[in-house]
Amino acid sequence: MSQQPSSRASVAGAGWECPASGELRALKPRRPFSWLDPRPLLASRNDKLARAGWLGGDPTNDERRAWMAALGVSDPRIDRSDLGRVSFVLAGDTGEGDMSQYVTVPLLERLSAVTDFMVIASDVIYPAGGAATYERNFYDVYAGYERPIYAVPGNHDWYDGLTGFMFHLCGVETAPPSVGGPLLRRLLWRRPPRLDDDERAQLRALRDARPRAGQPAPYWLLDTGPLQLVGIDTGITGEIDRDQAAWLRRVSAASEKPKILITGKPLAVDGRFHPGSIEGEPGRSVDEIVRERAHNYVAAIGGDIHNYQRYPVAVEPGRTIQYLVSGGGGAFMHATHTIPKVALDGVNEEAFRCYPLRGDSLSFYSRLYATRIPFAGGLEIVPAQAAAYMAERLGIAPAKADAQAVVVSDRTRRAAARIFPLPGQGKRGLLQALFSEFFDWNDPPLFKQVLHVEASTGELRIRCLGITGCAGREAGVVEDELLAAPDADGVWQWRVAGP
Ligand SMILES: [Fe+2]
Repeated sequence: MSQQPSSRASVAGAGWECPASGELRALKPRRPFSWLDPRPLLASRNDKLARAGWLGGDPTNDERRAWMAALGVSDPRIDRSDLGRVSFVLAGDTGEGDMSQYVTVPLLERLSAVTDFMVIASDVIYPAGGAATYERNFYDVYAGYERPIYAVPGNHDWYDGLTGFMFHLCGVETAPPSVGGPLLRRLLWRRPPRLDDDERAQLRALRDARPRAGQPAPYWLLDTGPLQLVGIDTGITGEIDRDQAAWLRRVSAASEKPKILITGKPLAVDGRFHPGSIEGEPGRSVDEIVRERAHNYVAAIGGDIHNYQRYPVAVEPGRTIQYLVSGGGGAFMHATHTIPKVALDGVNEEAFRCYPLRGDSLSFYSRLYATRIPFAGGLEIVPAQAAAYMAERLGIAPAKADAQAVVVSDRTRRAAARIFPLPGQGKRGLLQALFSEFFDWNDPPLFKQVLHVEASTGELRIRCLGITGCAGREAGVVEDELLAAPDADGVWQWRVAGP
């Protein structure tokens, strides 16, 4: 992969002011995705309904149980134990079908030659699943990635009762289990869009033309020679059902191989832990299962938030688990400048990493506000100023060499003071959808990313590859690189290999 300077090295390394990739221009999405259209918001309404306790709460656990019963699978497993060495790409929150997703294509097509498969971590299809939407936001985009694709669903995939996900990822075409519960919720609840026979046949042909993946269910164990991936389905609100929890405990204890958890909801994100609740087990969590020494988890990777964050958490003396957010695979960018200085049990700011860097995130958002809000031109903060400002605000040194000697101007301070309270920078439910459209951005740097993971016996490497959309950087830029190997006691030890 490319040894180009990363966003940590310089303003230019982040891709500011670069010419757009010619490869990318050739890949223009057929139709831009639009969150401003009221239909996506209406189609996402099950999110609000599921969170309304007075309407009976979230039926997802019951629905998932019904799917699993219909599938007749109790031990969902993908057997790739033939792979003595494994190489895969992980992309999170992929499915907008617009430039934010297409910008990843030149890199994914290169990775197709050197990886065994792709894993999508949550939100395969925006805004609301749907079997028919897979043509545009999955098959068209990944036609040049000629390896199997596995996935765990995100909340957006559940807004059609998981029907589209089951059809395309699991090859199951039965109608979704009917949702019971209070009458009012049943009346308001969005049902999956119906397919006629022609549409069904056409979608089936698309599915069957892709390399066979053989994913049996929305949650699964993917067994390879040196490493196990454990994918969980966190539904709409982030909780896993009790049957899935029992399965997770069982598969986690069953093998001594190192494991990586893949989840639709990250266990550490935006400076806080989110341990992941379990149905009917207050006080117990997914994180508790991940931290159990005998289970040998070395990393937990979640989508949902559309950027990259790494928390190397010392879970006990001498043992660190990498908690990663990797959701920059194909949707609008969530801000990182709003992430507070990291001070968590087991990890501090010095060890924390993110992409985009907070200064680049602030500069990016300042440009968006400056160009999209009338008479707000004064809000723009250039990248070097933004980097210096964020370092000063957090009491840390700027990573970029060309920001280290920069003096923060009063103008920057005034602009930042106005930007931080503005809406649209964090994840705020359905309202975020409106902002994301408002802030839709199609020019470099786009600050997307995927992970490239490689493992062989006794060796593991994870690289975060930044995707800017810049000419000459189509192969990705290494923004973070980690190596791990077991010590004499068999405990996996991590080291940062760059940049
Ligand atoms: Fe998402």
